[in-house]
Amino acid sequence: MATTVITNIKQLVNTRKENRMLRGKELADLPCIDNAYLIIEDGVIAEFGEMQELKANINHRATAIDGSGQFVLPAWCDSHTHLVFSGSREEEFVDKIKGLSYAEINAKGGGILNSTKKLNATSEDVLFNLAWKRLEEISLLGTGAVEIKSGYGLTLDGELKMLRVIKRLRGKSNLTIKSTFLAAHSYPVEYRENHPGYIDLIIHKMLPTIAAEKLADYIDVFCEKGFFNVEEMETICKAGMSYGLKPKLHVNQLNSIGGIQSGIRMNALSLDHLETMTEDDITALSQSETIGTLLPTAAFFLRMPFQPARQLIDAGCVVALASDYNPGSSPSGNMNFVVALSCIQLKMLPEEAINAATLNGAYALQLEKELGSISVGKKANLIFTKKIPSAASLPYNFGTNLIDKVMIGGEFLS
Ligand code: NIG
Ligand code: FE
Repeated sequence: MATTVITNIKQLVNTRKENRMLRGKELADLPCIDNAYLIIEDGVIAEFGEMQELKANINHRATAIDGSGQFVLPAWCDSHTHLVFSGSREEEFVDKIKGLSYAEINAKGGGILNSTKKLNATSEDVLFNLAWKRLEEISLLGTGAVEIKSGYGLTLDGELKMLRVIKRLRGKSNLTIKSTFLAAHSYPVEYRENHPGYIDLIIHKMLPTIAAEKLADYIDVFCEKGFFNVEEMETICKAGMSYGLKPKLHVNQLNSIGGIQSGIRMNALSLDHLETMTEDDITALSQSETIGTLLPTAAFFLRMPFQPARQLIDAGCVVALASDYNPGSSPSGNMNFVVALSCIQLKMLPEEAINAATLNGAYALQLEKELGSISVGKKANLIFTKKIPSAASLPYNFGTNLIDKVMIGGEFLS
């Protein structure tokens, strides 16, 4: 048995005996142990506690690591990304600086449809290599689990190609990966005037193949004016649910059109974005079991009002944080910056942001039994920080990489 013993850890962060989704006030409670030890056996957390409780008779063949001055946290669980994509979109970035809105860029054939053109002209192998590099990049930034969506194919072949790339990433990577089917990201040009035709293609051609090849865990729809309305979202989700795909949805980024209430009715695992929330939306979410996943870097990049994290938390919602890594609205998968922005602009406490990016993120991936906290039996996907004075240093020093090492399944990444 491979054993690693880490001693003298300045602080072990998010140590939990009980697993539960953190709601409202509970988010501010981040259990930690000062001057701690941690024992990992075969890639799994076996034991932890205060240094003075460490028994002297540890297996002397164990690898010993001195954690003096370091904080050790669960790796980030990034529950919303689109990291399989082809080219980047700097032209639109400049257009936006010049004053065009997100909706105007979409109407010009830019936006999602720009990425669709690029994706459909790229081979599966090239896409895989591009996505692999992004996975490596985010893992070194502390991400230990990630959800990845399709949604830039918008044809049977294109969507299958994306989902097969995700399946290959899953097979090769040590990160834990979940896959989401998002053909309802935008209407493709050919179906602009024929929405029922595209929905029919999703339901009768794409979904059966995806289910047969077990290519997706979740179903997603971009529910916004100019994209998919609530009724269309429900039709697509119900078809997905009949194949066992739970909804995990894009709602309330640009408009409040009933996506929250509909998502809750369908027992969605999470409702993501939430820049534009009415009082009623917040109340409905707070009374549900559905997770509200905030994507602050998308609001930042698009210069939109930030998500009302304070109202959501104060109303008693379950809140998670994710990167939304994609070429159009968040060309970064850096969860450290997501956490920092959540503290700086959304006024989340560092404890709330860390909980939302770890344990609640794990719940938003249905991985809470294996990831998201320092708990016996969970996988040793961990962040080791440089020598810092407090966990709040992480969001405070927002532009500095304070990660010393990342461990995935008990092994350090190099
Ligand atoms: O989550 N808003 C919809 N989808 C992505 C953006 C996709 C794109 O612009 O390529 C998002 O922000
Ligand atoms: Fe997204």
